Amino acid sequence: MPISIKLGIAGRLFTAALACLTLAATVPTGRLGSTGYLFIQSTSGGSTVRVHSHTRVRPRARNIHLSFGDNETSVVVTWSTRNDTQSQVQLMSVQPPNATEKLYNGSSTIFVDSGTKKATQYVHRVTLPDLGWGGLFKYRCGSQATGWSDWFEFRTPKRGFSPRLAMFGDMGMVNAQSLPRLMQDASAGMYDAILHVGDFAYDMQEQDGATGDQFMQMIQPIAARLPYMTCVGNHEFMYNFSHYKNRFTMPKGFGGDGESMFYSFDLGPAHIIGISTEFYFFVEYGVDQLKSQYDWLQADLERASKNRAARPWIIIMGHRPMYCSNDDGDDCTFGALFMREGFLARWYPLEPLLQKYGVDLALWAHEHTYERMWPVTRLEVRNGSWRSRTRSPAALCTSSLGRLVVESVTTPSGRRCTILRSAAPTMATPDADLQLHPPQPGAGQRRSAGSNHRPDHHCAAQHGPFP
Ligand SMILES: *[C@@H]1O[C@H](CO)[C@@H](O)[C@H](O)[C@H]1NC(C)=O
Ligand SMILES: *[C@@H]1O[C@H](CO)[C@@H](O)[C@H](O)[C@H]1NC(C)=O
Ligand SMILES: *[C@@H]1O[C@H](CO)[C@@H](O)[C@H](O)[C@H]1NC(C)=O
Ligand SMILES: *[C@@H]1O[C@H](CO)[C@@H](O)[C@H](O)[C@H]1NC(C)=O
Ligand SMILES: *[C@@H]1O[C@H](CO)[C@@H](O)[C@H](O)[C@H]1NC(C)=O
Ligand SMILES: *[C@@H]1O[C@H](CO)[C@@H](O)[C@H](O)[C@H]1NC(C)=O
Ligand SMILES: [Fe+2]
Repeated sequence: MPISIKLGIAGRLFTAALACLTLAATVPTGRLGSTGYLFIQSTSGGSTVRVHSHTRVRPRARNIHLSFGDNETSVVVTWSTRNDTQSQVQLMSVQPPNATEKLYNGSSTIFVDSGTKKATQYVHRVTLPDLGWGGLFKYRCGSQATGWSDWFEFRTPKRGFSPRLAMFGDMGMVNAQSLPRLMQDASAGMYDAILHVGDFAYDMQEQDGATGDQFMQMIQPIAARLPYMTCVGNHEFMYNFSHYKNRFTMPKGFGGDGESMFYSFDLGPAHIIGISTEFYFFVEYGVDQLKSQYDWLQADLERASKNRAARPWIIIMGHRPMYCSNDDGDDCTFGALFMREGFLARWYPLEPLLQKYGVDLALWAHEHTYERMWPVTRLEVRNGSWRSRTRSPAALCTSSLGRLVVESVTTPSGRRCTILRSAAPTMATPDADLQLHPPQPGAGQRRSAGSNHRPDHHCAAQHGPFP
C-alpha cells in the first residue's frame, strides 16, 4: 500500500527539498549521504502485519528459493542458515533419468539485520549452470557435513517455449490471498516462473528480520520449485533495502548493480528487465544510484533492441507505476510524475527511454488494484497496439495474481506474429482492495476486475521498425 498520505507527501517534499539542496553540487555522480529515514510506513488498512515470533534455531537450510542464472537453462539455488555452514547442492536428473547425484559447491555471505538484536544469518548461493532444455531435476541443499534439506523438483524450459509467468506484487504475510491459488496453479504446472513486482512481507525487517524469514518460508513451497524473479518495492526500503539485496539473487549476465536492484534476463521470446522505482523516492540513499540505473538501462535497451530477431519482446517491471488512476493523493497524483519525467520532474526520466526503444509492456504493482492501459505517452492515449504503430509501452498494473503468456499465434488475418497475452486477476479473491475510480483524463483505458472477479484478457502485437 502507498505510504500514509500526509506523511508521504510531506516526507517526499522534504526529501525532495533536501535533495534539491545537494543535487546541484552532486549530480551526476554525487551522493546525498545518510539523512536517516524520512519515510514512515503506513499502518492503515490491511497491509501492515504483525506476526508473533517463532524464531527457532534451525541447523538446516530454510528460505530455499530458485532464480534464473545468466541464461534460461541455468538455475541458482539460494537459501539461508543460522550457522556458518558449507553451501552445497545435490542434483539428480529425473528426466532423462540419472541415478548419479551431482554435487555443486557455492558460497555464502553473512547477513546481519540492522535491528537491535543484530540477528545474523548466512545466505548461501549455488549456481547450477547449463542444465539443458526440457529437463526435470530434483535437488536438495545444505552440506554433506551438516545435513540436507528435503528434495525439491524443478524443470528447465523446453527449447522454443512460450513463457507462462505468474505476476503479482504487494503480497504481505497475513493478507496473502493469492497464495493458495498460486500454489494450486504452480503444482498444476501452469507456470515457468514467478514475477513478484515488489513489496514482500510488510516488512521483512520487522521483528529483527523474523518477518522476512517467515515470508521466505511461506513462499518456499513455490519458490523452491519455480524461479522466483523479483524487483524491489517501497516496503523494502529499510536499511538501504538490505533485506531485499541479501535475500534474493537476480541474474548478472547483462550487468546491473549485482545486488538484484536492477538487472535483466532473456526468457524465450522476451527480454525482461527489473528496475528499482524506489531510487526515485528514497533519494537519501544516494542519487548516484539513479544515474547508474539509468545509464545501465539505456545500454541494456540499446543491446536488447538490436536483438529483436531473437527476442522480439521487451518487458520492463518495476514496483511503482508510471501511470495509474487511483485518486489517492499519493503516487497516482504525484509519484508517477517522477517515474515518467524523472526525479523532481527532471533527472533521469524513464518515459522517453521506454518510448525510444519501443518497450512493449510495462508491469507495475504498488496500487493494490488491477488496471491495464493502452499504450500511453506523455499523458496521451495511443490506440490499441493492433492498429496503431505505437512505440509506447502498454501497461499492466496489478497487485493480485495475474498470468502472462508470451507466445506466437496466428492472427485472425492469417498473419503469424508474436502475441503477449495476459489475464488478471485469475483468482477468486484478489489481495487488492479493489477500488473503482473513474480514470483520470488521459490515463488510458482502464479495465478493473471490480468485485465480480472476472478475469481480464488482453493481447498485444507489436510493430517495428525498432531502432
Ligand atoms: C551454531 O552456532 C552457535 C554459535 O556460533 C553454536 O553455539 C551452535 O552449536 C551452532 N549450531 C549448530 C547446529 O552447529
Ligand atoms: C549460462 O549461465 C551460467 C551461469 O548462470 C554460466 O555458467 C554459463 O556459462 C552460461 N552458459 C552459456 C551458454 O552462456
Ligand atoms: C549422469 O550423471 C553423470 C555424473 O554426474 C554425468 O556425467 C552424466 O552426464 C549424467 N547423465 C545424464 C543423462 O544426465
Ligand atoms: C566441493 O567441496 C567439497 C568440500 O570442500 C570438496 O571435497 C569437493 O571436491 C568440492 N566439489 C566440487 C565439485 O568442487
Ligand atoms: C545504499 O546502497 C547502495 C548500493 O549498495 C550504495 O551505493 C549507497 O551508497 C548506499 N547508501 C547509503 C546512504 O549508505
Ligand atoms: C485512433 O484510432 C481512431 C480511429 O480508428 C483515429 O481516428 C485516431 O486518430 C487514432 N488515434 C491515434 C492517437 O492514433
Ligand atoms: Fe508499494
